Amino acid sequence: MKAIQYKAFGNSDVVEVAEISQPEIRNEDEVLIQVKAASVNPLDIKLRNGIMQTMRPVNLPFVPGADVAGVVIATGDRVIQFKAGDQVIAVTREGGYAEYALANVNHVALKPANTSFEEATSLVVNIGTAQSVLFNEGKLAKGQKVLIQGAAGATGAAMVQMAKNARAYVIATASGKGVALVKSLGADEVIDYRSEDLTVLAKDIDLVADCAGGEFQHKLFEVLKPGGKLLSIVIPPSAELAEKYQVEARFISSNISANSLSDGLLLVNEGKLRPIVAKTFRLEEAAQAQDYLSAGGVNGKVVLLVAQ
Ligand SMILES: NC(=O)c1ccc[n+]([C@@H]2O[C@H](COP(=O)([O-])OP(=O)(O)OC[C@H]3O[C@@H](n4cnc5c(N)ncnc54)[C@H](OP(=O)(O)O)[C@@H]3O)[C@@H](O)[C@H]2O)c1
Repeated sequence: MKAIQYKAFGNSDVVEVAEISQPEIRNEDEVLIQVKAASVNPLDIKLRNGIMQTMRPVNLPFVPGADVAGVVIATGDRVIQFKAGDQVIAVTREGGYAEYALANVNHVALKPANTSFEEATSLVVNIGTAQSVLFNEGKLAKGQKVLIQGAAGATGAAMVQMAKNARAYVIATASGKGVALVKSLGADEVIDYRSEDLTVLAKDIDLVADCAGGEFQHKLFEVLKPGGKLLSIVIPPSAELAEKYQVEARFISSNISANSLSDGLLLVNEGKLRPIVAKTFRLEEAAQAQDYLSAGGVNGKVVLLVAQ
C-alpha cells in the first residue's frame, strides 16, 4: 500500500511516499480501516523534527498520522461494535498517513453521518483534547469564565464550541482572520493577541486553556482568579508562577478514546459543533501539507485525502 514515511529526522525533505506492506490484524481487539482522510497534527511535525525523542520516541522509518476517518475492512475476533463497511473515525496514534491503518477498538467511533470523511477526521484529536482539558481536567461548569489561548487553531476552535455548548463564558485569543472565525463559533469576547494585551482585557478567569504555548504563556497566569487553573497542551507551565499567583498550572497530555469523544460527537450529530477543515492535500502532498501548517495562520485542521 501507499504510505508516507520519515526515513530520517529533519525538515519536510525527509517526508517520502513509500510502498509498504498493508497492516494486518494482529490482536483480537483491533480494527483495520481503509483510510479515506487523515489529519495533519502539529505532533506529526514535532515527531518528524526529532524534538520529541525523549518524551515520545519513535523508530525510523516511521509512518506518522494520529487520527483518521475511513471504512472498516476487517475486525479482530473480539470486536462486536463494528463490522466491515462501517464508516468510522479512529485514533491510530501513528500510521494514519497511509491507505490502511489499524486502531484498537476502544479508539474507534462511528463517523457522524452529517460529516464528510475529511470533516470527520478533523474532529478526532480536537474534540478529544477539548474534552480532556475543559471538562475531565478543567471541570468547567456553566457560567464559569474560560480563556482559550490560540482559539482559531484546530484544537482551540473545538474548545470554543464545546465550552459555549456547556454555557461557559468564553474569551478567545486569535489573530487575523481567526478573530472573525472564533466570533462566528460563539466566543463572547475575542482578543486579537497581536494588537491587544490580554492582561488588560481579561481578569478573574476560572480556567485558561493554552493551545499556543510560547513566550506569551507567562501572561496567562495574570488573568486567572486565585484558585483558577491554567492547563496547557503545549508546554508545562512554570511551577514558580503557579505558586506566585496561587493557581493550579499543569501540562495536559490528552489520552483520547472512543469514550472521551462521545460528548463531542453528540454535539456534532446534533449540529451544535462544526468541524473546521482549513485545507486539504492529497496523501502524496504530505510534505507540503506539513509546511502549510508550520507556516502558521491556519484556521482549523489541515487534512490529507487518501482513498476517495
Ligand atoms: N497535549 C496534547 O494532548 C495535545 C493535543 C492536541 C494538540 N496539542 C498541541 O497543541 C498545540 C495546538 O495544536 P493545534 O492543532 O490547535 O495547532 P494549530 O491549529 O496550529 O493552532 C495553534 C494556534 O495558536 C495560535 N497562536 C500562536 N501563537 C499565539 C499567541 N502568542 N497567542 C495566541 N494564539 C497564538 C495560532 O494562531 P496564528 O496562526 O494566528 O498565529 C494558531 O491558531 C500544538 O502545539 C499541538 O502539538 C497537544
